[in-house]
Amino acid sequence: MNKLKIAVFASGGGTNLQSIIDHCEDNKIDAEIVAVVSNKINAYAVERAKNHNITTIIVESKKFKDRNEHEAEIIKQLAPYNPELLVFAGYMRLVTPDFIRHYYNKEKNLPGIINIHPALLPSFPGTSGYEDAFDYGVKYSGITIHFIDEGVDTGPIVLQETFPRNDSDTLEEFKKRGLSIEHRLYPMAIRLYAHNKLKIEGRFVKILE
Ligand code: GAR
Repeated sequence: MNKLKIAVFASGGGTNLQSIIDHCEDNKIDAEIVAVVSNKINAYAVERAKNHNITTIIVESKKFKDRNEHEAEIIKQLAPYNPELLVFAGYMRLVTPDFIRHYYNKEKNLPGIINIHPALLPSFPGTSGYEDAFDYGVKYSGITIHFIDEGVDTGPIVLQETFPRNDSDTLEEFKKRGLSIEHRLYPMAIRLYAHNKLKIEGRFVKILE
């Protein structure tokens, strides 16, 4: 089987990127990272990619007039690498419907952009899922992997896993518990995509045998 070509998009520290790199290098997922894309020149995720000789594409949003121009530059720079799936791993930018359409995977008949969110969607969308769930006082939170659609964290859910908030938890401990799930769940979702095990029925993503 050919390896699934993925481009990982990250704006921050890149611990999810690292987990995906490790899973690819250990052949635990049939995927190859063809590029790491960032909107932040100083993102540690970029260093991680360089440490593994992965192509990096930095397109700083502040250098462009608007979202369309920023995305057009990403599309242009990414085109030679022909990614089959964009994997958003702490990429803190919303994307336009045109961008989403551009990366639709016609061969698999599936959306071509996937995202990880650190809460049990549809609860606590946005950029601070851990903090928002913790401050709300939930007893259980979770991790969601979902396809990107036009809304903010509203796309069809691929995988979810819950975890508890313990009475003695600090926010840091709560986050740490969630992150260890993220690092396991994201490679699992990429593996399912690579092996054609996902099928969308309405909003429901079925996991095939
Ligand atoms: C992760 O917790 C991810 O779930 C979250 O950003 C963090 C990135 O960490 N994503 C979002 O909040 C998306 N709205 P990382 O850079 O160490 O992978």
